[in-house]
Amino acid sequence: MGRIAYVNGRYVPHDRAQVHIEDRGYQFADGVYEVIAVHKGMLVDADPHLDRLDRSLRELRIDQPMSRRALMAVIRELLRRNGIRQGIVYMQVTRGVARRDHPFPKVSVPALVMTASRKPPPDLSVLETGKKAVTVPDIRWGRCDIKTVGLLPNVLAKQHARASGAYEAWMVDAQGNVTEGSSTNAWIVTREGQLVTRPTGNEILSGITRASVMDLVKREGIDFVERPFTAEEAKQAREAFITSATSYVLPIVQIDDAVIGNGKPGTIARTLLQAYLAHMEGAGASR
Ligand code: PDD
Repeated sequence: MGRIAYVNGRYVPHDRAQVHIEDRGYQFADGVYEVIAVHKGMLVDADPHLDRLDRSLRELRIDQPMSRRALMAVIRELLRRNGIRQGIVYMQVTRGVARRDHPFPKVSVPALVMTASRKPPPDLSVLETGKKAVTVPDIRWGRCDIKTVGLLPNVLAKQHARASGAYEAWMVDAQGNVTEGSSTNAWIVTREGQLVTRPTGNEILSGITRASVMDLVKREGIDFVERPFTAEEAKQAREAFITSATSYVLPIVQIDDAVIGNGKPGTIARTLLQAYLAHMEGAGASR
């Protein structure tokens, strides 16, 4: 079965899915996106993801392309047509097509495209090994809370990570504090055993996985605080991990040259990954 994409009201073969060259997403990165995981045929945390999509659109004053109900129908139909039970759904909304000019066009129709991709379930062997992160300066703009398609600094950060043999890049602000990963939120467990992640604000994306994991942290009764932490503190940490819709809860065992803890994924990351896997199949799941 060939892959099918959704483009502005049509289901089309993926290799022929196209948008106009004057789509403002293409010319100005004037658009937003969401990535929702599909696990065992169910969408994970669909409502919070679509709430965040609405918020990103509101912040940029882009009209909603369709109602929540209609959007869910498109997502389900796309998954059905692609026969996907394990993977991700990617959706992107831009301000639409208009003659290239910086101000918002007087009339434009928001453009919606969607793809669905197959991805294997989490590789639990990562629990035995963990992954490496490297630090990079955070060179992004002042509204990282909006999930825009303007991801060039994130792309450069991730490329630097890959070129350094690392899985993720942790971005560091002018004060030396870690903001977040290039496509994940960042967490540490201090030497004293307290779980720490940076508070939400304009400097980071308010991760949906972050929020779900935070609920699990409370349920598990883990000692936890939201505060900024420096890259140096992270390098001295007992544990480190990242969260995202596609990485779930992924242990980090090395940051730059510093080995974290004993170089193996820690107990809090393991506990939270197990709890998150249960959440994906339980409270977080919607058909
Ligand atoms: N990235 N921070 C950034 C910069 C991100 O791009 C993402 C998600 C996250 C985690 O958010 P969530 O838990 O809602 O996935 C944090 C997606 C997966 C991506 O760009 O592919």
